[in-house]
Amino acid sequence: MAFDYTFSRIAEGMKPSPIRELFVMTQRPGMISFAGGLPDPAIFPVAEFAECGDVLRDDGRVVLQYGATEGYRPLVEQIRRRMEQPLGRPVAPEEVLIASGSQQVMDMIARCLIDPGDVVIVEAPTYPGALHTFRGAGARFAIVPCDTDGMRVDLLPEVIERCRRETGERPRLIYTITNFSNPSGACLSLERRRSLAGVAAEHGIPVFEDDPYGELRYRGDPLTTVFKLAEGKGVLYASSFSKILAPGVRVAWAVGEPALIRRMAIAKQGMDLCTSVVTQALVAEYTRRGHLDRHLAKIRAHYATKAAAMAEAFHRHLPAGALHGLEPEGGFFFWLRLAAGDSTRLFSRAVEEGVAFLPGPAFYPDPGETIGEPADGGPFARFCFTFAQGDEMAEGARRLSRALAAG
Ligand SMILES: Cc1ncc(COP(=O)(O)O)c(C=O)c1O
Repeated sequence: MAFDYTFSRIAEGMKPSPIRELFVMTQRPGMISFAGGLPDPAIFPVAEFAECGDVLRDDGRVVLQYGATEGYRPLVEQIRRRMEQPLGRPVAPEEVLIASGSQQVMDMIARCLIDPGDVVIVEAPTYPGALHTFRGAGARFAIVPCDTDGMRVDLLPEVIERCRRETGERPRLIYTITNFSNPSGACLSLERRRSLAGVAAEHGIPVFEDDPYGELRYRGDPLTTVFKLAEGKGVLYASSFSKILAPGVRVAWAVGEPALIRRMAIAKQGMDLCTSVVTQALVAEYTRRGHLDRHLAKIRAHYATKAAAMAEAFHRHLPAGALHGLEPEGGFFFWLRLAAGDSTRLFSRAVEEGVAFLPGPAFYPDPGETIGEPADGGPFARFCFTFAQGDEMAEGARRLSRALAAG
């Protein structure tokens, strides 16, 4: 008989990530998947990355040892150089923290800023991995709706006021994905970035600017970061190598004020001591050799073509008006609204037909954990355009069309 564990209250309250659960279904043989937010493995820079293994020969005694929690120095230097332009000023080493994926940045910030019962403001829809982590820290959520220009920052003061009224406290964090949001594909407009920086400062609420897709812009001009507009005060900026290089490296970074970065590093000591120095060294070497910038140019063109191919396939094969939404200017996703019906129901039909996507409700907090009005993702669905190969776009659209017809 198995041992009878008494789980902690936090563990008892944990729910499996809906995306990870659905992911299992999308792995069935023959399934065409528009579900996972996965980069295209066909374009992974396998040969160049393997060549960077030279760093093991050259610096092996350092690279194979435990490393500093804050990060492998040559990688920190690369990040400092890359961040100077988007963050608007040189970044000091004590403002940078390397993490094992930006998912770990979320965990660190949650441990440093959130006590059980605290409120985190999130835009809706938002990244379920963030909800999962903040929920695990005991947070409740207050929702600010999004439109095609990202978070409705005009509604933010009202949401903050409501939290104060209902909990007697100010919210502890504002979480936002400023570029090509997962799932909505929207970018926060410049005007809204300015007012977000202003409202957050006025109310003394820190902002977590999560930006793993910022470098994946296929059209138009980049927008100034909230970090830059706030001159770094009260804003933690994070990005990752997962979408621009490969998620298997599990290397990301955060930039913020030294006092917060120091706390986060202390939290990280209790998680993994340090991010794998081996992969940090490979990524640093890959970047130092100029491969990353060349690879970025290549994947921007590649993914722009894939986005166009999905738009074309949906246009050609789906009934006119069945799904509508914007073609994003970058990132990984189409976020589409069903003209009729519910996306969870459509998901079941689609899986029977052999095509998968993610239904909208996965991207919203549950009503039971929400302060104020909950939101309903039922009419929406997320389609990832970066992963499917060749004629899978057209065949996936044909299968989806059959699922739509099945009602
Ligand atoms: C908005 C957002 N933040 C963070 C992550 C986690 O990325 P990482 O692989 O760096 O942990 C993802 C992954 O899909 C994401 O979409």
